[in-house]
Amino acid sequence: MAVDFDGETAIVTGAASGIGRETAKRFAAEGANVVVTDVDTDGGNETVDLINGDGGTATFVETDVSDPAAVEAMVQETVDTYGGLDIAVNNAGIEGETEPLADVSVDAWDRLIDVNMKGVWLSMKYELPELKVDGGGVIVNTSSIAGLVAAGGAPYVASKHGVVGLTRVAATQYADAGVRVNAVCPGVIDTPMVDRAGEDDPEAIEQFVGMQPLGRMGTPEEVANAIAWLCSDEASFITGNAYPVDGGFTAL
Ligand SMILES: NC(=O)c1ccc[n+]([C@@H]2O[C@H](COP(=O)([O-])OP(=O)(O)OC[C@H]3O[C@@H](n4cnc5c(N)ncnc54)[C@H](O)[C@@H]3O)[C@@H](O)[C@H]2O)c1
Repeated sequence: MAVDFDGETAIVTGAASGIGRETAKRFAAEGANVVVTDVDTDGGNETVDLINGDGGTATFVETDVSDPAAVEAMVQETVDTYGGLDIAVNNAGIEGETEPLADVSVDAWDRLIDVNMKGVWLSMKYELPELKVDGGGVIVNTSSIAGLVAAGGAPYVASKHGVVGLTRVAATQYADAGVRVNAVCPGVIDTPMVDRAGEDDPEAIEQFVGMQPLGRMGTPEEVANAIAWLCSDEASFITGNAYPVDGGFTAL
């Protein structure tokens, strides 16, 4: 697989942990300058240390993706530090409660939509003008199998369907500017998010994993591989789509 990000600059949101951390490490290993962003300062700095320890280049910028001023400042800091922006992986997200739709509190709904959906819109809002500058760039947004089917609670499923919709709109509106935009839709992936969900409801996780024909959880590295490929020149004619990385979950 020809993935080469030598000299390019990439933002990865939610990169203190899980899929975001592995994606940041993979991009740095392929030569990118990586801006690691997250609300988790300790985890974000740890990701940067891992990258720098392996000879890569990374900087941590603390950012809450639901805060417009913080996202705008993070993108500006990226451009000021590395001279531009080539790739953005909008991956930050939180899990939601799985109670029936009518039992979801308004606060829980607002928080989840703010982070998972508005956070992706805000990220793209400030990234796209910078991605256009040199005549092209690429975005991958992290949706979920919950962006394709009803695999979860109402706010989570709505937020991840929203991410797919935003991906399609951005792809069509910015194709003329040479920017490609896609989404990945992971199945059950072995990350701290799934560990937390498993503590609350181990049977539900087992049931979901049982619905993945490959018969196991995915790894964050396997999702990072798909993201890296979609961001590479190997995927130069691919835009506006949502790609399951789900061990076959959505094929059933
Ligand atoms: N693990 C899975 O099975 C799975 C499946 C489908 C989709 N996803 C999605 O993948 C993405 C990454 O999840 P993960 O499994 O690696 O979980 P994770 O909890 O390990 O990582 C998520 C990261 O996002 C950060 N974050 C949370 N709120 C934030 C905010 N407001 N601003 C900035 N950062 C914030 C967290 O601090 C954390 O570092 C999420 O969008 C999640 O919904 C995960």
